[in-house]
Amino acid sequence: MRKHLLSIDDLSADDMQTIFETAAEMHDVQRRDVKKLPALRGRTVINLFFEDSTRTRSSFEIAGKWLSADVINLSAKGSSASKGESLRDTVLTVTAMGVDGLVIRHSASGAAQQVSEWVSCPIINAGDGTHEHPTQALLDAYTLQRTLGSLEGRHVAIVGDLTHSRVFRSNVKSLVKLGAQVTAVAPPTLMPSGVATWSKEAGFTTAYDLDEVLAGAHGSVDAVMMLRVQRERMSGAYFPSAREYTVGYGLTRERLGTLREGAPILHPGPMNRGLEIAADAADAAQSVILDQVSAGVAVRMSVLYHLLAGPTEGVTP
Ligand code: NCD
Repeated sequence: MRKHLLSIDDLSADDMQTIFETAAEMHDVQRRDVKKLPALRGRTVINLFFEDSTRTRSSFEIAGKWLSADVINLSAKGSSASKGESLRDTVLTVTAMGVDGLVIRHSASGAAQQVSEWVSCPIINAGDGTHEHPTQALLDAYTLQRTLGSLEGRHVAIVGDLTHSRVFRSNVKSLVKLGAQVTAVAPPTLMPSGVATWSKEAGFTTAYDLDEVLAGAHGSVDAVMMLRVQRERMSGAYFPSAREYTVGYGLTRERLGTLREGAPILHPGPMNRGLEIAADAADAAQSVILDQVSAGVAVRMSVLYHLLAGPTEGVTP
């Protein structure tokens, strides 16, 4: 495994399975009354969040704490970044205090990579602009593997605002690496530019008609991943109205009825209920949205463990 986790490109399929195996052990710890493991005792991790977050930040915080690391949260609001300090100065300042790992979320694509060139400790990318969100893709694949068994030959439809989604970019890479077939579905305005060449190189297919995809036009669908319409990243109108988006691309109650029984429904959150996903689908028995959240802690514990403790150091779970 490489020193940093900046992109799914940093991991081989074997690395991912190693992360999942440790995560499964961590998942058992999560269900205990006493959740602390001593693996990262004496280590300090800083969560540096320049963008809003509920689950990713708290999940990294819990993960670090359950491994006995000291975890410090810094956000742009409330830090000197809001006084005009540069990213480089902020990062050099916090690492000068002697941190062992930095988890970073930033609105600029490539920020995590840039930071990794400035400091010597391991960097974990918790989302950089519209580029990547590797731990999200890992927890998604982990959740899918637990629900479907091996992902080899399984067909996953990823639906929604693909243009703005780092979750999509990381998931395409991880799912394809694990042998899954991916169909990316979006309205033409939310399909990333250059997708024709990219999809050929990366080995996924694209479609504009969600109903055709769910009806099996690209092979029967084993899982659906709905992605949020990211209004905060949109500068213009990408679709005529919310209603039209839902009619064309929402996982509505009607579409829920067309899914294979038990086919898992995923969403990284936060959800726009009623826009890209109906309450009936979000709360359906086959929804694994909350399983994703709980897997998030286990997978992040595993990632922190592998990057900061190393397999031979520390205490095995
Ligand atoms: C995602 C993100 O921030 O990229 N959320 C998350 O990490 N759970 C997806 C999103 O914001 O829609």
